[in-house]
This record gives sequence, C-alpha cells and structure tokens, in this order.
Amino acid sequence: MFELYLDTTDIVQLTRFNKALPLKGITTNPTILAKSGRGLKENLKLCAEILGTEARFHVQTISKSTADIIKEAEQLYNLPYDIVVKIPATEIGIAAIKQLNNTPIKVLATAIYSVQQGFLAGLAGADYLAPYVNRIETMGTNGIAVVADIQLLIKQHNLKSVLLPASFKNTHQVIEILKLGVGAITLPPDVTDQLFGHPTVQPAVNQFENDWKKIFDNKLSYET
Ligand code: E4P
Repeated sequence: MFELYLDTTDIVQLTRFNKALPLKGITTNPTILAKSGRGLKENLKLCAEILGTEARFHVQTISKSTADIIKEAEQLYNLPYDIVVKIPATEIGIAAIKQLNNTPIKVLATAIYSVQQGFLAGLAGADYLAPYVNRIETMGTNGIAVVADIQLLIKQHNLKSVLLPASFKNTHQVIEILKLGVGAITLPPDVTDQLFGHPTVQPAVNQFENDWKKIFDNKLSYET
C-alpha cells in the first residue's frame, strides 16, 4: 500500500495535515532536527502524540564509519517506535546497508543523486530508496528521469527496495513522480500546502454558496 510521509517535525504543520491526509509517518534528516531546536527523542514523542503509535519514523544516522553506522542503527532500532534508519548512500553507507540486510532493522538509503547510487543501495538490500528530486534538478539533471531509471532497475532485478522520493519544491515534480507508480513519497509542508491550494477552487465553492443563498437563504440542502 502506498505510503505518504511529511518531511518535517513541525508540530503545527503535522497537526494541520494529519487531519486531511492518511500519513504513514514522517521523514527527518539532521538539518530538519537541528532546525526544530529539539533532540530526536523529544521530536519522536511529540510527533507520535499527533500521528499515533502506529506511525513510522525515518531517522538518519550521523556516524562516519560503517561499523559506527551499524552501532547507531542498532540504537535507533531499540527506540520504542517504528523506526526506519536512514543511511546516506555513500560507499561506507552502502557497506552498512549490506550488513544490515536480513536483520530486523529497516533501512532507507538516502542522499541519492544518481541512478547508480540508487541501484547499488538496492542491490545492498535497502528497504527504501530516497532520490532527491529537486536537488537533482538544481544540478541541471532531470530528477524525474533519474527516479524512473532507478525504479526500472529495481523492477528488472526484482529487488525489494521501495522508492520513496524526497526533496520537492513544487507540485509538478510531485505529480510527475506519482505517475511513475512509486511506493512512497515524502513531502515538505510548503509543497503539501501547494497541493491543497489551487487558486480557482475556493472562488468556485464561494460561487456555489452565493447562488444557493439567493434562493434558499441559510437552509441546508436536506432542509429544502
Ligand atoms: C528526505 O529524506 C531528505 O532528507 C529531504 O527531503 C531533502 O530535502 P531538501 O532538498 O528539501 O532539503
């Protein structure tokens, strides 16, 4: 089943979007946590209060060697939440992903900027792959095409990795990625806001209301 995440620990935004969206959980990275001004555990507690105990949390490792990434992943796994450990898809990160394959620890390969990085992380056994769509496009490369190629290779080789594209700046990128049939996505709050905010929708709703009131005043439909 498709998994929708918000790429934030902003409590106000999470509370807002959790009302209308079937959120699977949130994704974080060191920048997001640092910006929140709260440590990991406090963020997890606050976000779980909003999203519930079933929510899934993607949390990135900070360690710089394969052995240390594995130790950090084990500590994250021991927290009392459904944690997916995000590991940057560098050579040492992919080595850690390989070692964590076939353990109960779920892993997302993050900071994916290229097809080869995504494919190698998939081969190593990553449960999720997070290509950075907007960051790829900022470098002058087609981010949608990179995601499509990674997905093609994952399918061709029957690998288990679920594509969870990240880094979006507009709804066009989001829709083009969704059309590829990816299994998951994570959206920043500003782009989620854009998804709801088509400029012609509210004027159309207002017009319906005005037309109704001219004839039926404040009555509701079933009262007429
Ligand atoms: C998520 O996994 C990434 O850390 C994040 O989406 C990067 O997004 P940005 O390019 O908006 O920082």
